[in-house]
Amino acid sequence: MKPKVYVTRHLPEEAWRELTAVCDAAIWDEEFPPPYEEVVANIADKTGLLCLLTDQIDARLLEAAPQLKVISQVAVGYDNIDVAAAAARGIRVGNTPGVLTEATADFAFALLLAAARRVGEGVDYVRDGRWQTWGLTLLLGQDVHGATLGIVGLGRIGQAVARRARGFDMRVLYHSATRRPEVEQALGVEYASLDDLLRQADFVSLHVNLTAATRGLIGARELGLMQETAVLINTARGPVVDTAALYAALQSGQIAAAALDVTDPEPLPAHHPLLALPNVLVVPHIASATVSTRTQMALMAVRNLIAGVRGEPLPFPVG
Ligand code: GLV
Repeated sequence: MKPKVYVTRHLPEEAWRELTAVCDAAIWDEEFPPPYEEVVANIADKTGLLCLLTDQIDARLLEAAPQLKVISQVAVGYDNIDVAAAAARGIRVGNTPGVLTEATADFAFALLLAAARRVGEGVDYVRDGRWQTWGLTLLLGQDVHGATLGIVGLGRIGQAVARRARGFDMRVLYHSATRRPEVEQALGVEYASLDDLLRQADFVSLHVNLTAATRGLIGARELGLMQETAVLINTARGPVVDTAALYAALQSGQIAAAALDVTDPEPLPAHHPLLALPNVLVVPHIASATVSTRTQMALMAVRNLIAGVRGEPLPFPVG
């Protein structure tokens, strides 16, 4: 008999075929995530769970899953999963690191360039019929080439962003919990305290996991250290930034602009005050959203799931 698994959203065809060749899968095949209680109700007789970052996987849910052997998340970040509670029950947890690094770094740079050069405002300007002539001072932005980039969190994605910055002749500062001398050497990046990085950077790009230590890492005090011309880019997790403090900093001109792929709350409601500001660019958590990256993520997650239901170590365990 095939092991029973629950899948909380539609998967790319290739990944679904691999999964169903081995597992007896029940799927929540809707555009929106399954309600929490729906997962609780479905997990009772399952040995595997394949989930997304929109699913809250906590101790109560795990209590409802006495047979569960593996939680396989289709994402690199896994702050939605209570990993300690899973470990306490001997449940393996896997994620999808590596395959999304380059796509996410591409996108962080896309946001950086778009915010620096006011692409969103330019698009609105044309669409609104305001484009009447060429103007010497129309929509002036910031130079990216030669500017200083501050990378907060020098993991895989932070490093991939640093490599891109070299092509733009940027000076790159980084801050991270542990100093990385070998990476400093290889990528030509300089370590700085968080405060120094915020003071010096023209662009600050966030690449930390969301943990108790990084929740609210960028608040009013930190935004207050940044330059009035500085731009904040967040492709990590929304709660790393204090949204109310960011709104105040953008409205008062404490910083020049922000480009956000992730927000707090997420999704950001259409009437949210941040969206009324001209110097904010918000997109719906799509940094890894390319056809090939998302397919590879799903395939990795399926491989984790299959190993887990077989009681084998996961090829891509968290941590
Ligand atoms: C996306 O945010 C991911 O963590 O993969």
